[in-house]
Amino acid sequence: MADGTTLMVSVGSYLPERVMTNHDLAEMVDTSDEWIRQRTGIAQRHIVAEGQKTSDLARHAAERALEHCGLTGSDIDLIIVATSTPDDTFPSTATKVQHQIGATTAIAFDVQAVCAGFVYALDVADAMLSAGRGRRALVIGAESFSKILNWEDRSTCVLFGDGAGAVLLERCEAVDDFGILASRLHADGAHRDILYVDGGPSSSGTVGHVRMEGNKVFRHAVEKLSSVMDEVLAAADMTVDQVDWLVPHQANIRIIEGMQKKMGLSDERVVKTVHHHANTSAASIPLALAAAVGDGRVRNGQILAFEAIGGGLVWGAALVRYGRPNGQ
Ligand code: ACO
Repeated sequence: MADGTTLMVSVGSYLPERVMTNHDLAEMVDTSDEWIRQRTGIAQRHIVAEGQKTSDLARHAAERALEHCGLTGSDIDLIIVATSTPDDTFPSTATKVQHQIGATTAIAFDVQAVCAGFVYALDVADAMLSAGRGRRALVIGAESFSKILNWEDRSTCVLFGDGAGAVLLERCEAVDDFGILASRLHADGAHRDILYVDGGPSSSGTVGHVRMEGNKVFRHAVEKLSSVMDEVLAAADMTVDQVDWLVPHQANIRIIEGMQKKMGLSDERVVKTVHHHANTSAASIPLALAAAVGDGRVRNGQILAFEAIGGGLVWGAALVRYGRPNGQ
């Protein structure tokens, strides 16, 4: 394995223009703004326009991440798109983005780990860069979850939204205590039936819709997330006190606040975007990160803790010191 450090040097995001509020939803299914806010913290979500695809969201987010550090597609060696809502069964959404941003020499593929897709893709990209498979990678979480919702099922359709976020990783000479510090992933396929999509190419031949026993998923969430957070802190030989920001998967404010309480973090150290974005699955962590970098909360050199759990079940966490050692 090549000696070096994988830096996370920039982030970009994109949300489709159309906003759907809880009030809009209450006109479609038997629900209310009050129920959705109380149970989930969600007030609104963004929804793709007619004809707008996951690759379009991913491309915009990637272009913004590139712009923020003055690079173009030709500087990129690896593109991984984490998504459960690809444009097509194949080719991968990543190859579409590769073509659209002119990253002609980059290798490109998708990773499917539902809501944990971003932390999975981050680990895969770090491992590939560490193994010398290139210098720069785009890790993109992009979802059009609105396309796999049953809009008559109030127990699921109120929870999700569309969007994309991208981070740019850059391999450099070894720098102590910077970049991706540690990452841990898990999977347990025994829990498939509490969160899945009831369709697919080799089962129904259809795309299918999200099915979830929300309260069962909820029961796994805080326990598994806090345990993997402990693991990743131990792997980096760090304590919670050293974490500047928890940037969690944005599924439900009660799960986020459960983790916040377990970690003993004040409100000023947790990024929360679930209110505006809802659950955008693989896109939710980079979307939250982009919001916090954009408004100046997350600064160069700060320690970030990412965590996510999704259908599978799959879950994971990562610790990153954000930016570049010289701050440029
Ligand atoms: N509006 C009004 N009432 C509703 C709605 C709605 N949108 N949805 C369900 N209800 C009703 C139910 O029918 C039920 O009624 P009943 O008591 O008369 O039977 C009642 O509300 C309570 O339902 P529960 O499912 O027990 O509600 P809960 O408090 O568990 O909240 C929720 C549901 C928000 C889904 C919660 O369980 C949750 O967020 N779970 C975690 C989901 C999650 O984290 N997913 C992440 C992974 S997603 C991925 O990987 C794709």
